[in-house]
Order: sequence, then C-alpha cells, then structure tokens
Amino acid sequence: MSISNIFFTRHSLKQLLKLTSVVTLLSASLSVSATPVEIKFSHVVAENTPKGQMALKFKALVEERLPGEYQVNVFPNSQLFGDNNELSALLLNDVQFVAPSLSKFERYTKKLQIFDLPFLFQDMDAVNRFQQSESGQKLLNSMKRKGLVGLGYLHNGMKQFSASSPLILPEDASGKKFRIMASDVLAAQFQAVNAIPVKKPFSEVFTLLQTRAIDGQENTWSNIYSKKFFEVQSHITESNHGVLDYMVVTSDTFWKSLPGDKRKVIKAALDEAVAYGNEIAAAKVDKDKQAIIDSKRSEITYLTPEQRAAWVSAMKPVWAQFENKIGKDLIEAAVASNK
Ligand code: LMR
Repeated sequence: MSISNIFFTRHSLKQLLKLTSVVTLLSASLSVSATPVEIKFSHVVAENTPKGQMALKFKALVEERLPGEYQVNVFPNSQLFGDNNELSALLLNDVQFVAPSLSKFERYTKKLQIFDLPFLFQDMDAVNRFQQSESGQKLLNSMKRKGLVGLGYLHNGMKQFSASSPLILPEDASGKKFRIMASDVLAAQFQAVNAIPVKKPFSEVFTLLQTRAIDGQENTWSNIYSKKFFEVQSHITESNHGVLDYMVVTSDTFWKSLPGDKRKVIKAALDEAVAYGNEIAAAKVDKDKQAIIDSKRSEITYLTPEQRAAWVSAMKPVWAQFENKIGKDLIEAAVASNK
C-alpha cells in the first residue's frame, strides 16, 4: 500500500467515524423525541371496580388514538399514591390523573361536601341528574383556584354500613368505631348516632377491620367485595344512606401544557372511559352484592321502612350543621334532583 493510499484510508476512516457519531447522535435525539409522553393515573381501589376498569379503558383509548405520542400508566391499589397524598402529588405533577371520592376534596373546597350529606339522594339516578345539572357541572370548576381541574364525575354507587354486629337501628351503632373517609360531614353523620368516626385511608381499612381495631365502615358493594371487607365483617346493612362517587381531576398546569388538539382527544377518551365505568358501576351493584351473599361470610340486613326512617331522622340533622358551608341553594338543587 502506498503512502498516499494509507493517508487516504486514514482520512476516510476519520470521516466515517465522524459521520457515524453524527448519525448516532441524530438517531438518539430522534428516539428521544419519539418517546411517548407518560401520563400517570393513580388510584386506590382494585382493578375489578368501576374506577379500576375506567382507568384501564382510558389507557386503551388514549394509546389507540395517539399511538406513540402518549402512554398512560395506571397504578391501582394505592401502589403509587394513597388517600393522604394523591392530590398533592397531582399538584406537583408527580401524577397527571386521579379520581378520588367526592368526600376527599374537603381541603380544596367545602362545596363538594354536599355529596356526603346522609340520605340526600334517593338513588343513583338522582345523583346523576344532580351531577349533570348546571349546579353539578359548576362544581367541576370549584377547585380551579387551587389548581385542580374537574373533568367529570364517575359513579361507584350508594354506600352500605358494615360492622362486626348487626346494625338495625341507630342505637346499634352507638359507641362503635367506624372508619370514614377524611370528611367532616361523614364524621358528623356517625356522631349523630353516637358512634365514633375514625378517619383512615382506604388502604388501611381491611387490616383495621380484621384486627378489630375498628368495628365497622361504610362503602359501596363493589368496594366491600373487591377489598374483601365482607370476609371480616359479619354484618352488612343495605342502607343506601349516601353516595360514593368520584371526580376525575387533573392539574391546571398539566392540562394547559397539552397541545389543544391532543387535549381534545384525551378529553374525549376520558368521557368514553367514564361512560364505560358508569355502566360497570351500575352492573356491579347487583353482581357484587350477590357474590357477597353467595359467599355466606356476611349476613345482610334489609331494613323495613320504619327502621330506615329511624336512621333518617337520626342522621338528617347533619344537613343543618353544614348548610352554611355548602350553601342552601345547592342543597335545594340536590333535593330537587329526587323525583
Ligand atoms: C374509600 O376510601 O372508602 C373510597 O373512597 C375508596 C374509593 O376510591 O372508592
């Protein structure tokens, strides 16, 4: 090989190496920009619940409609964040979507306390009518100043009481400890029957019941079933005394950071996922209740109209306690949704 040949080979080798590194850098930056944006959706319930199924549907729809652009990762069962920190995590952008129960927004607005008033809604149709009314839709924006954007309501269902002894009349609850969500209205509801409310995160309820640290709790059929509360509570009273629904929320900062066209697709996906979750919620009332009955682990008490009336008259005075904070007009609008 001649000197000039060697020089040429070295020269072209250098060029080749330069070219290769440029290509590597380029492909690296291309692959960075091709990485989908991660959207985290965190929740506290099991996957076989209305909320669990809704979140998975949302993931499927977003990833189908914005392939390679957005990836939704769902974290169920308080795996990522629990009741005590999911809303602050949302505001810190550590998670982009959560759907807490309407009882868990008290730190951000008192208006949503309306959903906790005992015996306010006669059934889920009434709850739905109120949520979809002008007053109900306004509540979605009630936390905007705190940085939270309400994107829609999701149903779970009416709550039932459960305990380690029968609850037939309000006196049966007297002196007993009940786990409640972090809501002052729910605390007042149990105090109204001389019971002791204990605010605890959802992730701790099973163990508290199992170890008899508390006597009872209130929840929907789907939560009582999916979290196996019925295995550690000998009695459930079909009281339908209140509602446990959710608001799907994101942070104002994250929502605004999305390009307008993408936000539209994501919102449409969410609306569809919520409609799907609502169908599951309606089906689960009977299905999960039946599964609990079939298990024979827990005895179900069905109240007579007189027994139910006794609970209503013991608990309804709670409305007056919170009327100023919630607003008389709002309570009247909710009452009007009962037909
Ligand atoms: C509860 O804490 O009992 C519920 O809010 C859990 C849930 O998200 O359904």
